[in-house]
Amino acid sequence: ALELRDGGNRYCGRGVQKAVAGIERVIAPVLTGKNALEQTSVDAEMIALDGTDDKSTLGANALLGVSLATARAAAASQRLPLYRWIAELDSGGTGLSMPVPMMNIVNGGAHADNGLDIQEFMIRPVGADSFKEALRWGAEVFHTLKGLLSKAGHSTNVGDEGGFAPGLSSTRSALDLVLTAINKAGYRPEEQVSLAIDAAASEFYQEDRYSLTGEQLSLDSEQLVDYFDRLAASYPVDSIEDGMDQNDWAGWKHLTSRLGGRLQLVGDDLFVTHAQTLMQGIEQQAANAILIKCNQIGTLTETLKAIQVARKNGFGQVISHRSGETEDSFIADLAVGTGAGQIKTGGLSRSERTVKYNRLLRIEEELGGKASYRGVGK
Ligand code: PGA
Ligand code: ZN
Repeated sequence: ALELRDGGNRYCGRGVQKAVAGIERVIAPVLTGKNALEQTSVDAEMIALDGTDDKSTLGANALLGVSLATARAAAASQRLPLYRWIAELDSGGTGLSMPVPMMNIVNGGAHADNGLDIQEFMIRPVGADSFKEALRWGAEVFHTLKGLLSKAGHSTNVGDEGGFAPGLSSTRSALDLVLTAINKAGYRPEEQVSLAIDAAASEFYQEDRYSLTGEQLSLDSEQLVDYFDRLAASYPVDSIEDGMDQNDWAGWKHLTSRLGGRLQLVGDDLFVTHAQTLMQGIEQQAANAILIKCNQIGTLTETLKAIQVARKNGFGQVISHRSGETEDSFIADLAVGTGAGQIKTGGLSRSERTVKYNRLLRIEEELGGKASYRGVGK
């Protein structure tokens, strides 16, 4: 879905006066007086007003702002916490649960100015017995990693998603450091803390080849599957996101048939939170999980639809932030209310990331043990 920006010089072209004007002049006159409890019809009205497939008339940023505000208003009017209201909207859901955080502690690819080809190196505290405990484990590993980096003379500045962005260039060197940090922090890799990556392979795909420039490798789809296979055999990696380019469906099918029985394979750029595109993946057996980003699709109704299609077809669901992110914590409630089981919301730094973790802590306290921490994310 298109994010509408103004262009021109103001805010270097990134202003949103057009999107705001669309809300005030087009959306508000139609929605004012409507019942906020009817999320589906509110979203359907906006989709009709926009009239395009990619929401380019009014902008997904305009539609999503109103859509999420509607859900918040409805929850407040029902005197329900947001996650409970989301659970009601998502009727048929698996019930409330606390998600396993997939914490991005080393940033590479387009999210950092280093030589790492892989965009995200994440830790998953799968062995913790509560979200609160998982968060503490993650924070300890993160700060232990900081110490290791600093000792080795690497930068400890953070990248776009709040993970470190050391000047490394090989995937294995990054994974080795993360593993050392897990051990040094006192946790058992795999059993207590597993690893996950987001390759964001579309970023290094050109003319049918995958160019891992940091490692000076140029691979075809099949060789890239071998690469991941070897990686998963050497490290406790249990989830790979966007292992293949978004248009390389043959590569995706191959990846899934080779590794899908052992690993979670998450489609982000592949599915773009679009229920119909996800159906294509389900039919073709490409991937076995979906990344859920509300602003890739533009309304809450369509976001819930993608989650429901995934759930119904046995696909995993990872609720996700964006690299460019706001201090809004909606996705924390979304993860709990839909019982998605997993959330990806960055490293243990930068308050647009930690605000989601803090909200999850509050929710877990409020539920007082009534929502289980999934423990195993798959
Ligand atoms: P993006 O990255 O928000 O820059 O698309 C996040 C991701 O790829 O998961
Ligand atoms: Zn991704």
